Amino acid sequence: MKALTWQGVNRLSVEQVPDPGLLNAQDAIVKVTRTVACGSDLHLLGGYIPFMRAGDVIGHEFLGEVVEVGSEVRTHRVGDRVVVSSFIACGRCWFCRQGLFSACDNGNTNPALTERLWGAAPGGCFGYSHALGGNAGSHAEYVRVPFADVGAFRVPDAVSDERALFASDAAATGWMGADLGGVRPGDVVAVWGAGAVGQMAARAAMLLGAERVVVIDRVPERLALAERHVGCEVLDLTTTSVGAELMEATAGRGVDVAIEAVGMEAHGRGLSAAYDQVKQQLRLQTDRPTAVREAIYNTRKAGTVFVLGVFALAVDKFPLGAVLNKGLTVRGAQMHGQRYIPMLLERMERGELVTEHLATHVLPLDDGPRAYDLFKNKKDGCLRPVLTP
Ligand SMILES: NC(=O)c1ccc[n+]([C@@H]2O[C@H](COP(=O)([O-])OP(=O)(O)OC[C@H]3O[C@@H](n4cnc5c(N)ncnc54)[C@H](O)[C@@H]3O)[C@@H](O)[C@H]2O)c1
Ligand SMILES: [Zn+2]
Ligand SMILES: [Zn+2]
Repeated sequence: MKALTWQGVNRLSVEQVPDPGLLNAQDAIVKVTRTVACGSDLHLLGGYIPFMRAGDVIGHEFLGEVVEVGSEVRTHRVGDRVVVSSFIACGRCWFCRQGLFSACDNGNTNPALTERLWGAAPGGCFGYSHALGGNAGSHAEYVRVPFADVGAFRVPDAVSDERALFASDAAATGWMGADLGGVRPGDVVAVWGAGAVGQMAARAAMLLGAERVVVIDRVPERLALAERHVGCEVLDLTTTSVGAELMEATAGRGVDVAIEAVGMEAHGRGLSAAYDQVKQQLRLQTDRPTAVREAIYNTRKAGTVFVLGVFALAVDKFPLGAVLNKGLTVRGAQMHGQRYIPMLLERMERGELVTEHLATHVLPLDDGPRAYDLFKNKKDGCLRPVLTP
């Protein structure tokens, strides 16, 4: 079959790779009909996650049709249209039973690397390096889905492919940020990043009853899409003082909940952003926490900062003093898709959650390298490129 493969830093190519087969009785094989590039894939492309090998198939956000099921798969039949959680979880371990699916003890078949790095291994992920299991990704004609009863969800007929696709990762991630960030009715919520994840976090905060939701970014086209389709307020960090605006919005108190949806390649203005760029280039820090710092400074006392953006290891100048003295809760997580996807599909069916505007570009799999060029370099207003294998 054909698949989009990682070949080295900033090098992708479409190659012929072996078709996937059932390896386990709980597996299903899904014929991918839509798969979308995520900001997380940009971190792989840029070489910031050093556990890739040339030839690895990337992609983790997808929807398709079940074409084969293992003997122990109970909920799916050949022909089902399913959306699949990007994180792979067993559904039975202690973490899965708490709804903490991305912390699954059995989803990652290669735990040694991350146990050394972080003290424990998270669950597995499709197409996301050998640190997260070395699973083949979804930018391919077919993909093997482990624990299919747990990770794949039948899409209601009334929900289009274009909409359901985003339940796989971006919408579930955004929802988790607002939910576990503890957004309550009446809150003022600020979201850093107007990519698909930030926009979905903003929409979730609104649906959970936040009174004001402000999304911050540096790309005007993305802010315009967020304003129009999500219905939130927006701030362009290149033309406004984010801190001053947020303080004004909260009568000087700071936001109740800050959601960071930017990650390790944050940009910014001023000395702190320049410092991060240089230190990361010199490999003296793995990640640029520019937006995390800003979120911490602008959150009210006893508020919560939820980090959705992906970080690899260690950051510099982390304002622990502000965390302690303001009594903040700082949390983060990889997404617990299995916990949210059924509810998200219902909301999509009711029209409460729309995602079509996120898919600014739809291209065949053969155009994968071009799709990533558009996405990475934010050309032609690209917010998310969808591939149709
Ligand atoms: N936790 C999870 O399970 C999970 C799942 C999906 C994605 N992610 C991560 O979430 C992050 C966002 O994903 P995405 O697909 O929306 O990515 P994206 O690259 O499309 O969007 C990131 C946005 O952040 C903006 N940005 C850069 N610096 C900023 C700053 N200082 N302040 C405000 N905005 C800034 C960029 O202009 C861009 O629009 C990535 O780090 C991704 O890896 C995490
Ligand atoms: Zn993702
Ligand atoms: Zn588990």
